[in-house]
Amino acid sequence: TRVAVVGGGANVEHDVSLASAAAAASALAPTHDVVRLTIGRDGRWSVDDVDLPVDEAVAVIAACDVLLPAVHGPHGEDGTLAALADVIGVACVGSGVRAGAIAMDKAVTKLVAAAAGVAVAAGRVVRGTGPALDGVPLPAVVKPVASGSSHGVRCVTTRDELTDAVEAALAIDRSALVEEVVVGREVDVAVLRRADGTTVTSPPLEILHAGAVFDTTTKYDGSARFVVPAALTDDEARALADAALAVTDALGCDGVARVDFFLTADGPVLNEVNTMPGMTTHSQVPRMFAAAGLPYAELLADLVAGALA
Ligand code: DAL
Ligand code: MG
Repeated sequence: TRVAVVGGGANVEHDVSLASAAAAASALAPTHDVVRLTIGRDGRWSVDDVDLPVDEAVAVIAACDVLLPAVHGPHGEDGTLAALADVIGVACVGSGVRAGAIAMDKAVTKLVAAAAGVAVAAGRVVRGTGPALDGVPLPAVVKPVASGSSHGVRCVTTRDELTDAVEAALAIDRSALVEEVVVGREVDVAVLRRADGTTVTSPPLEILHAGAVFDTTTKYDGSARFVVPAALTDDEARALADAALAVTDALGCDGVARVDFFLTADGPVLNEVNTMPGMTTHSQVPRMFAAAGLPYAELLADLVAGALA
């Protein structure tokens, strides 16, 4: 099987997308014919470090059996690479256009989740500062509507900080989400549609970190600790798994998605859904499934087989 593994990407998650693609390519290489493509920060494509016009890069993908779009964030995880694969008739790992596009929008994802009966944080979408922020209760969490790896996410306690944070978020995306602070444990669950057609949830993973927000630095400096399986009661674990399945069903996710929650005294509150979650060997999803007895290389092979099924 020829697999086109695309990494990088023209967004702030470029580096982690390179790392996810490199890990995935290494895991697949012993059993698959892997072709590696990279999207630069400027959107230009390269194959094996040779720059190529986009039409030639697309021709390389078209000659493969399956595309693995290991590109987190906009211009990748948001369904654009799934759309490319769809149009050129190549199977694609992971969620399709619709689920990718909706899940990339944290505000619309909350609407879908709430309609599916899953609790979400109260908040509003803003496209500017000034009057748009009147009456926002503090403290608040501010984030770009469409980004990842916590880039542009801040917890604020004053009106000046709120304005600054919204400006920072609007530098990344054209809209920002301003939300109430949810107090709870950070616990994530992955949902995997296996090649045999069954859907499984991973053991829940709890993130332990010192700061107020699991921010970009804490995500990648190695200081956070992952506990998998998280120490939860059976009822808590079931509530998280049920919520993860309800949200991924409502969105129509495929392949593997990681659903991030705050576990509060009143149960799980959805934070967000990642349709192309971090896939380095240290990332959450590989560790969740390893804890369930599914090694990384087998997870990747299953995702590729699932795309072709
Ligand atoms: N957006 C990052 C890569 C994640 O979800 O793991
Ligand atoms: Mg994310």
